[in-house]
Amino acid sequence: MSRRIQSIRGMHDILPPDSGVLRNLEQTLQAVLQQFGYQEIRLPVLEHTELFHRSLGEVTDIVEKEMYTFEDRNGDNLTLRPEGTASCVRAGLQQGLLYGQAARLWYGGPFFRHERPQKGRYRQFHQIGAETFGLTGPDIDAELIIMCQHMWQALAILPRVSLEINSLGTVQARQRYRVALIDYLQQYEDALNDSEKQRLHVNPMRILDSKNPELADIIGDAPSLIKYLDPESAEHFEGLKALLDAAGIEYRINPHLVRGLDYYSKTVFEWVVPELETQATICAGGRYDGLVEQLGGKPYPAAGFAMGLERIMALLEKTRFSDMEIDAYLVVVGEQAVEAGMEIANQLRNQASSLSVVVNCGGGSIKTQMKRADKSNAKLAIILAEDELRDDTVGIKYLRDKREQETIPRINLMSYLNEYLGT
Ligand code: HAM
Repeated sequence: MSRRIQSIRGMHDILPPDSGVLRNLEQTLQAVLQQFGYQEIRLPVLEHTELFHRSLGEVTDIVEKEMYTFEDRNGDNLTLRPEGTASCVRAGLQQGLLYGQAARLWYGGPFFRHERPQKGRYRQFHQIGAETFGLTGPDIDAELIIMCQHMWQALAILPRVSLEINSLGTVQARQRYRVALIDYLQQYEDALNDSEKQRLHVNPMRILDSKNPELADIIGDAPSLIKYLDPESAEHFEGLKALLDAAGIEYRINPHLVRGLDYYSKTVFEWVVPELETQATICAGGRYDGLVEQLGGKPYPAAGFAMGLERIMALLEKTRFSDMEIDAYLVVVGEQAVEAGMEIANQLRNQASSLSVVVNCGGGSIKTQMKRADKSNAKLAIILAEDELRDDTVGIKYLRDKREQETIPRINLMSYLNEYLGT
C-alpha cells in the first residue's frame, strides 16, 4: 500500500457535526450584520505580499514570521491572506468604494498564519470581519462594539465574554509615549528575552503584550499610554465611553492593550473569554485612520473588527448549534418499495422545503435498515414494505419518543409530519 497523505499541520478538515456548527455560527453572525446594514465583500485569498508589508508593519509577528509567502509561476511575490483589513482597504481603493457615502462592509472565510499550532490557534482559521470607511467620530466605534454585543447575545454567550478597550492616540502621541516607554523599559533590559530586546527600540509597545511571566510586574508599572493621549484622541475616547455607557455595555479600560498590528490609531478593543485561557481573544479591532493613505489613497477614516470562528465555536453547545438532524429516514424493503419511497421522499421535499428526508440506499433487511435509521439521528422512520405498498399506507416508528409504532394512510403522511414535526 502506498503512503497516505496527511493534511498540513494546523490546517484542519472540519467534519460533521462541527461543519454544521460553523455554518450555523456564520449564518447567525451574518444575520446580525444584515440587521446593522453591513454588506458583504468577497475578497481573494491571495494578495501581493507588498500589501501586507505596507499595512501590518514590518516589525509585527505576522510579517516577520507568520506569512505564507511564495513566488508564483510568473515570479510574482504573493501571500495567502493573514487577515482581511488590508485587502478590504486595497479593494476599497481599487474599486472606488471609498470617498462617497460611508461604507459598511463585512467579509468572511479562511485566513492563514504560520503560527505554532495549539488549541484555539491554527494555521488555517476562519474569521468574520467588518470594516467601515468614511466615519471619524466615536459613534461608529460604538456601533461596531454594540453589533458585537448583539452577536454574543444571538449566540447565547454574552455572560462569558468581556470587553477591553484602550486608545492608542495619534501617531504623534504614540511617538511621545514611545520615548517614555523605552526610557522606562531600558532600566529592566536584563529581564527582557532576546526577541523583546530586539523590539525595545523598534516596537517597544509590543513588549506590553508579552506573555513572559518575569515581565508581569514590570509591565504592570509601565507608563500608561492614556496619559500621553493628544486632546483630540482623549475627547474621542471619552465620547466612546459615554456611548457605551448609554448602551449599557460593560467594559474595562486596559491601558496595555496595544494590538499586534501597526495600523491602529485611537480606539482599540478586544472581546475576551477568560475560560479559553491562552487563546482567549475571540474578537478584536479598532480604528485605523492612517491605513488608506498608507496604501496610496487620500486620507480616509476607518474602523473595524474581526472575530475568530474556531474560538467562538469552542464556546457553543454543539447539540443546539449543529443542524445535522434529519426529520425522517425512509425504510424501503423490496425493489418496488425503493421506487415508491423515492417518489414519496420527493413529494415531501417539494411540499416542505425545510423537511429533511433520507431514503435508505443499498438495500438490507428491515432490521438492518432500522439500525441505519437509528444511527442517522432521524426523528422518525417511515416504513414502506410489502404490506404498506399493498394497502397504500406507511408505517411510522418514533425514534426519539416512547410511542407505539403506527400505520397511517399514505395520503395523510404530509399533514401527519407537519403536525408531529411542527414544519
Ligand atoms: P487579529 O487580532 O489578528 O486582528 O485577529 C482577529 C481574531 O482572529 C483574533 O482575535 C482571533 O480570535 C482570531 N485569530 C487570529 N489568529 C488566529 C489563529 N492563528 N487561529 C485561530 N484564530 C485566530 C485582525 O485580523 C484584524 N484584521 C482585525 C481588524 C479588523 N481590525 C480592524 N479591522
